[in-house]
Amino acid sequence: MEFKIALLPGDGIGPEIIDQAVKVMKAVEKKFNHKFNFETALTGACAIDKVGEPYPKATHDLCMASDAVLFGAIGDPKFDNDPSAKVRPEQGLLKMRKELGLYANIRPVTTFPSLIHKSPLRKDIVEGADFVVVRELTGGIYFGEKGRSEDLTKAFDNCVYSVEEVERILALAYEYAAKRNKRVTVVDKANVLCTSRLWREVAQRMEKEHKDIETDYMFVDNAAMQLIQWPKKFDVMVTENMFGDILSDEASVITGSLGLLPSASVGIHTSVFEPIHGSYPQAAGKDIANPIATVLSAAMLLESLNLLDEAQAVRDVVNKSLDAGVVTIDIAGDAKAYKTSEVGDWLAANL
Ligand code: IPM
Ligand code: MG
Repeated sequence: MEFKIALLPGDGIGPEIIDQAVKVMKAVEKKFNHKFNFETALTGACAIDKVGEPYPKATHDLCMASDAVLFGAIGDPKFDNDPSAKVRPEQGLLKMRKELGLYANIRPVTTFPSLIHKSPLRKDIVEGADFVVVRELTGGIYFGEKGRSEDLTKAFDNCVYSVEEVERILALAYEYAAKRNKRVTVVDKANVLCTSRLWREVAQRMEKEHKDIETDYMFVDNAAMQLIQWPKKFDVMVTENMFGDILSDEASVITGSLGLLPSASVGIHTSVFEPIHGSYPQAAGKDIANPIATVLSAAMLLESLNLLDEAQAVRDVVNKSLDAGVVTIDIAGDAKAYKTSEVGDWLAANL
């Protein structure tokens, strides 16, 4: 089959890790007899530098015209250290999410047997942990009205959710749970926040429509603790935008490296697949970043195109590389560390 895939490498290590995922997808193309038409577009700080905005219209048009988007990372320290910058790379990511209607971010967290010892948590705690964080992605405090008072001594970010927004993300969480272990944990702060009480109200209604799924409720502070103490307890965790941002980074330590976790952002228009880590500017251009999260994001992309055997082949070869110790410096420890490009070459050759 033939597909059009938009590549948005972005900043920092983005281009290097996207290159490796493309190598792997080209191997899939060959092995399974498909045609992937890749087209690259600008986003992030490099787009600001070149055309003055982080998510240019040409990039959006390409995304809309594609079957899927593979995204690297965005962000540049020159903006992080300048709170007064008028345009920021992150605005590009948020604009993309909003304009593509990507209301859900799916972050699966699984452990890799050969890497269990890399987790800062005890083996008996993390071994076998397998859950999904379903994060609402186009609402809440990220997108509410924000600003400064006239005298600049106060700032505000509003958090707003509508019933419809909560319903559609919970519906997706229930869909995932139905295909998994049939448990949904709704994470909120309903003891304090009005938006959280709306979430809980909607969830309590939807719970009754999903009797085959066990629903439980957890305050976010408690969830932050339980995630680390009993990660195996979770199946599908669903939560609002900012709680999901924080909890999914926290969840990534379970696997031992932030460089391993993929994600899918799905919603109304073209889906976007990206590693959960950032642009890691310190490593940019050094050929040392871990490409696995991006390669596994490509596997999620293949799955979304209904190429299930192809996605499994990518996951299998990733597991093989981890077992064989063909890994980058973040997980190599005292053993030999492979370069980013060497890991990509190995995966493509062994797929
Ligand atoms: C993420 C990132 C983004 C977010 C940033 C870069 C805006 O942390 O995708 O988790 O906060 O959503
Ligand atoms: Mg984040």
